[in-house]
Amino acid sequence: LSSGNIRRGAFILFEGVDRCGKSTQCKLLVQSLQSRGIEAELWRYPDRTTAIGQMIDKYLQSKEDMNDAAIHLLFSANRWEKRDLMLDKINSGVTLVIDRYGHSGTAFTAAKNVPNLDLAWCKSTDAGLPAPDALIYLQMPVEETLKRAGFGGERYEKTEFQKEVLKNYEKLSNDSWNYLDASKSIEDLQEEALKIALDAIEECKKGKAMGKLWD
Ligand code: TMP
Ligand code: MG
Repeated sequence: LSSGNIRRGAFILFEGVDRCGKSTQCKLLVQSLQSRGIEAELWRYPDRTTAIGQMIDKYLQSKEDMNDAAIHLLFSANRWEKRDLMLDKINSGVTLVIDRYGHSGTAFTAAKNVPNLDLAWCKSTDAGLPAPDALIYLQMPVEETLKRAGFGGERYEKTEFQKEVLKNYEKLSNDSWNYLDASKSIEDLQEEALKIALDAIEECKKGKAMGKLWD
């Protein structure tokens, strides 16, 4: 960072199984940061707007099939293609609140239990990408997510598969993750998420260096 007075923004990541409330919390967090005068943007992966993202979208909607390694690499490439813009934004002081990232990438592909596509292989394609400054994991049993509206249509939205995904998140997790009980009210979760985000933003302002996946 060349400029002396611009402090970098933070990378706040939300992860968790489908329908745990990530998108709602991401949106609310961006709004409350902005209302405090903090520059913040909402991003999500997959980013379905790029050419790679459109291929991913067709796969998720089961309009096209693809080799499991190939689709994993596309999800990963979708993060790499946005890497420079991510860093530019963050280094210019913008806080990015991101809905899913490489943790989803690994947890989902590895849940397929395909030979060779184990956790280590899945992680390797994302190694070196910017790492989140705070990871907020919304914890919820798969049975609870099934009761929520909107679960259904896409390729991975199957109970048994989601249970494998959840096990993989547990294997990936470490002490730095912030676990929130996703069964709490939207407001309570928002309050907890905001506190975590504000702490991370403060640390980044003080000069905390950006980390790399999966260091
Ligand atoms: P979305 O519902 O948040 O748009 O995510 C679409 C699906 O893609 C969801 O089931 C999780 C899955 N996914 C992967 O399999 N690999 C990835 O790298 C990402 C970001 C998501
Ligand atoms: Mg979905």
